Amino acid sequence: MTAQLGERVGDARIGIIGLGYVGLPLAVEFGRHLPTVGFDINVKRIEELAAGEDHTLEVEPAELAEARHLRFSADAEALRDCNVYIVTVPTPIDASKRPDFAPLLAASRTVGATLQRGDVVIFESTVYPGATEEVCVPTIEKVSGLRYNVDFYAGYSPERINPGDREHRLPDIVKVTSGSTPEIADFVDTLYRRIIRAGTHKASSIRVAEAAKVIENTQRDLNIALINELAQIFSRLGIDTVEVLEAAGTKWNFLPFRPGLVGGHCIGVDPYYLTHKAQEIGYHPDVILAGRRINDGMGEHVALRLVRLMTNKRIHVVDSRVLVLGLTFKENCPDLRNTRVVDVIAALRDFGVSVDVYDPWGNREQAHDEYGLDLLDSLAEGVYDAIVLAVAHRDFVEMGGAAIRRLGKPGAVLFDVKNILPRHEVDERL
Ligand SMILES: NC(=O)c1ccc[n+]([C@@H]2O[C@H](COP(=O)([O-])OP(=O)(O)OC[C@H]3O[C@@H](n4cnc5c(N)ncnc54)[C@H](O)[C@@H]3O)[C@@H](O)[C@H]2O)c1
Repeated sequence: MTAQLGERVGDARIGIIGLGYVGLPLAVEFGRHLPTVGFDINVKRIEELAAGEDHTLEVEPAELAEARHLRFSADAEALRDCNVYIVTVPTPIDASKRPDFAPLLAASRTVGATLQRGDVVIFESTVYPGATEEVCVPTIEKVSGLRYNVDFYAGYSPERINPGDREHRLPDIVKVTSGSTPEIADFVDTLYRRIIRAGTHKASSIRVAEAAKVIENTQRDLNIALINELAQIFSRLGIDTVEVLEAAGTKWNFLPFRPGLVGGHCIGVDPYYLTHKAQEIGYHPDVILAGRRINDGMGEHVALRLVRLMTNKRIHVVDSRVLVLGLTFKENCPDLRNTRVVDVIAALRDFGVSVDVYDPWGNREQAHDEYGLDLLDSLAEGVYDAIVLAVAHRDFVEMGGAAIRRLGKPGAVLFDVKNILPRHEVDERL
């Protein structure tokens, strides 16, 4: 059974569980070649996709139409005929920053309920090493009554897409693959080679593949944390951090990281999966957690610097009006998940500041429901005591410094968190 399946990727009938930023592009790529069912518990999401639209903007309507073998359903019954399941549900953390496995467990139960002998379940969600086989597989076994690596098999292939990035798209990014047996690893690898032009890297085990993904994001988090710490030191020393980085960057092996707010669904979250596992096995990950602490404190740092600047300019902070430009966690992308711009807003409000937020990309409903923020419809000139340029949307870059300054009162403060304007056009940058 195993060998047959390994040789016969052409017979794969794919079921994708979870059609978000990761699952939809994957469903579309497989749906060009193989019968594919895209399943999501969110009925609204299924309706929007069936109507040929994707609010995440990762997939164009024309690309959706090109995936001729892809159909969508919010009914798990539609997965019955599948023999390869790919799970792409969220892996959030809870209020205590511990892994929240609820979506993965629910997806594992869904798969377990329809799984047949010989089927393969591949996980793409970011987890810590061991989670697939320690958390998901036992649930599948329990619900299906089938035995792991006897009746069904597993794989893990982490996703590396970068939302909003039109250059590095799914088929153009080398994909790490793995399987629960050598034959299944071959099968998983061959399967992904059907859709990944850039090629694959077959890891020696599921745990290696899981670890590879989580350290990619942990490394990035820590690199940014170092630069954020330097930004805090240089701010106290009265030195411009970007000027220092430009000077240091002339050395061939100096890494080009910039300071900033570290939000989003991945970099600010995934390291906590690894630190949780490390602590579970009795190792305290000092460096990783220190980096997390620094990055999580950057919103407050920005607010403090802005308030200091306003005070120095004799702008009365309490009841002042501050405009925050951008709310999404990154530029040119509608993703509001885990945006740390909200920390800047919260800290400013603690100082008695009245904060307006404008973001032409962010979803108004989500901003309201998740953060209690009502995004401005339009911008008015001459209104604000200070402006925080928080996200480098191309709309703000195109506006330029002069137009952005016109939104403020005469003498208003402009803080460029993302370093998108020339130094002389702003009062402060991170
Ligand atoms: N967004 C990224 O850039 C990115 C990149 C690499 C890896 N990842 C990882 O991929 C995983 C998915 O992330 P995402 O950004 O696509 O999340 P997302 O929130 O955009 O999408 C998840 C989808 O899964 C659905 N879902 C939730 N529970 C479900 C269930 N039980 N059954 C079926 N559908 C369910 C949701 O309705 C949603 O549509 C996470 O582990 C994330 O860390 C994300």
